[in-house]
Amino acid sequence: NKGAAEFLPDQLDLDSLRRAAAGCQGCGLYANATQTVFGEGPQRARFMLVGEEPGDQEDRQGHPFVGPAGRILDKGLEEAGIEREDVYVTNAVKHFSFVLRGKRRIHQKPTAGEIDACHPWLDAELTLVRPEVIVVLGATAARALLGREFRVTHYRGEPVPLGDALAVATVHPSAVLRAPDRDQAYAGFLADLKVAAQVV
Ligand code: URA
Ligand code: SF4
Repeated sequence: NKGAAEFLPDQLDLDSLRRAAAGCQGCGLYANATQTVFGEGPQRARFMLVGEEPGDQEDRQGHPFVGPAGRILDKGLEEAGIEREDVYVTNAVKHFSFVLRGKRRIHQKPTAGEIDACHPWLDAELTLVRPEVIVVLGATAARALLGREFRVTHYRGEPVPLGDALAVATVHPSAVLRAPDRDQAYAGFLADLKVAAQVV
């Protein structure tokens, strides 16, 4: 597995990328997942949101953030005043990673090797969309975009330069769902999204 680079299309536009990514075998994750879940949203989006990897529902439906984490994300975006037509949503890793427990598919964090293997897709999306603000949702996206030293817990809600954009890191919406005090976790998540909404 040499990574996604050799699967990139000659022509760099979002439709070509999406079609090419559907056939990616850049790491082992394609083998057990249902399909590649590529990013979605207008090419002119001012905001790019980057999650970890598709979950169970995303893998079945083929769209990012359509499951429980997506509902928290949608609520946060709306309350932060970020319009859907201003948002391109994607993930650091484009295939669902899981282990089977009986019939249940249990989400597994992607490995550093898988994050690196998938990076050419994210990089190409960034090149094409050229967002003004990148919202980094959790540690996996932070690892992919800001390096392995970056700590979301230290820097969340603080804009940091990333290429021509400003990145604002926050917790992953799934972490909000799992938090012992969900209201408090959501309030922190929303506060970070509001920073992102107002940064430019
Ligand atoms: N979690 C993610 O990180 N991405 C999705 O698309 C869905 C859940
Ligand atoms: Fe390719 Fe990324 Fe899927 Fe691995 S996770 S096969 S690199 S699209």
